[in-house]
Formats: sequence, C-alpha cells, structure tokens
Amino acid sequence: MLRQPKQYGMGYTALNGGRMAASTTDVKRVTVDDGVALVTLTRPHVMNALNLQLRAEIIEFARDLDADPSVSVVVITGEGDKAFSAGADLKERGRRTTAELYDERRFFRSRWVSAVASMAKPTIAAINGYCLGGGLELALQCDLRLASENATFALPEVGLGFLPGAGGTQRLPREIGLQKAKELILTGRRFDAHEAERLGIVLRVVPREELMTAAMALARSIARQPRMSLIQAKLALNASQETMLSGGLQAENEAWLPCLLSDAWQGKLKRFEGSS
Ligand code: CAA
Repeated sequence: MLRQPKQYGMGYTALNGGRMAASTTDVKRVTVDDGVALVTLTRPHVMNALNLQLRAEIIEFARDLDADPSVSVVVITGEGDKAFSAGADLKERGRRTTAELYDERRFFRSRWVSAVASMAKPTIAAINGYCLGGGLELALQCDLRLASENATFALPEVGLGFLPGAGGTQRLPREIGLQKAKELILTGRRFDAHEAERLGIVLRVVPREELMTAAMALARSIARQPRMSLIQAKLALNASQETMLSGGLQAENEAWLPCLLSDAWQGKLKRFEGSS
C-alpha cells in the first residue's frame, strides 16, 4: 500500500519513516538521515536573509524536530556558498510600517529569540559564508558551530541604529566574555572564521568543501549517544550559564537522576551483571 506523507504543522512535510522534504512554498528544506536532521535555509538569492516566513518556519521546525522520535541532532546551514544568513531581511523590514515592526517585536520576539536554543536536542550550525546580524544570533542559538574558511561574521546592528536584539547582547558575552563581546558589538566590525575560532564563537574552521562532511560527522557522533543522556547533559550544561554554582550543581543532579531509569543505563548495567 502506498504510504501517505504525514503533514508536520504548516511548514514541512514528513514522509513516514522520518524522511522530510520542503514543500514548494517553504524557505527551508529538512532531510533526516541516521538520526540527524539537516535543515537548509533556502533563500540564497538574498543571502538567506531571515524574513518573517523563514523565522516562522524555524520556530516550527524547532518544535517539530524536537518531538520527532527519528531525530537526535539537528544541523542548520544555508544554501549556496555565500551565506549562512545575512541576518534580518532588510528589504522586508523596509516595506513595513513602524507600527507593524513594533507589533511584530512585541508578539513574535519571545517565540523567535530562543526557538532553537530551547530545543532539548543538540543543534549544530554549519556556517558556510556570511553570518551577520540575526544570522549570527541564530547560530549563537545552536549548541555547536563549525565554520568554513570563507565565513565572515559581524553584529552590525549598532551601525544600523539598533542593537542586536535577538539574543546577541546576551549570548555572545556568555560565549566569549564581556570585553570581547563589547568590542564586536560596539564597533560592528567584520571578522573572519579564524578569528571566530580564536574567540570561541566557532568550535573549528574547515575548508569550504569539507564543511558539511565535518558537520554531519560531528552530528552523527553525537546522535549515536543514548538520546536521554544527551538531552539531560545539554540541560545540565545550559544550567551552568543560567545559575550560580550551587544552583548549577543542583540542576546537574536533577538532570542526572532520570538517567537512572533510562534504557541505555539499564542495558549497560545488564552487561556487567554478575561480574565482580
Ligand atoms: N536582507 C535582504 N536582502 C539582502 C540582505 C539582507 N540582510 N543581505 C543581502 N541581501 C540581498 C542583496 O540586496 C542582493 O539582492 P539584489 O541582487 O536583489 O540586490 C543579494 O542579497 C546579494 O547581495 P549583494 O549583492 O549585496 O552581495 P555582496 O556579496 O556584494 O554582499 C553582503 C553581501 C555583505 C552580505 C551584503 O549584501 C550586506 O551587507 N548585506 C546586509 C547585511 C546586514 O547588514 N545584515 C544585518 C542585518 S541587521 C540584523 O540582522 C538584526 C536586526 O534585527 C536588525
């Protein structure tokens, strides 16, 4: 019997068995293989700029992939070889009234600012070119970041008369320290992939043609770990950025306890049963 595609919310279609593809109106594509979902932002003609639709789809895939049992790790990248994302879609913004932008900010921001960061499952940004403004803020929502040698970074918002308002002023200093974050945000200067690596914004820089292989290999090595302990470890690690040490140690314990009941741990115990 022919299997019917299963509809995942309004934005993407999933075939039974966990393989997903974008519908024709989507501005991103999702494929799932070996427990790794690869999400590609597909607006290369505008450097994968984040318009309202793309941001809505990101919010939606974050929710749907977190709930998808065939997915353990999510990789996000940009289509083409020029950009991960050049940030907010400035053309779209220019067409909107101040009142519309104000409303959008009030009602949309809270869902956008941590859409990916709040995913329980680990996420990786594979940064393949320009990673500017909101594009860098999206990458900062991911747990790990790899960059290709041609990647260029900046948070240019102050120069545009604003400030990084999708988490940049909070996540960047937590990643690289307050001094360095202030310099980058207050000057808005561009910096290359090697500087991003030295600063600790990216884990590793790889040649352009090796980026996706490296990102998928990293994702698969994480996806092979037991799902529950992955999620609980991410929870405990994130708590280290939110609380003082005593609170963090308590969060670590709370994350640890449910792992006692996990199939992976019970299976490991069985292997050692009877041995002294
Ligand atoms: N929004 C909309 N369109 C964009 C865009 C953006 N952020 N960035 C690039 N594009 C479009 C260009 O307008 C151009 O389209 P057309 O061919 O229709 O003119 C196309 O993408 C290719 O861009 P360029 O011809 O400019 O390519 P380039 O290689 O010469 O330069 C670039 C690339 C350095 C990324 C340059 O396009 C640029 O500086 N873009 C703006 C980047 C920026 O300032 N981003 C931060 C936005 S602020 C933010 O994200 C936070 C916020 O909320 C305000």
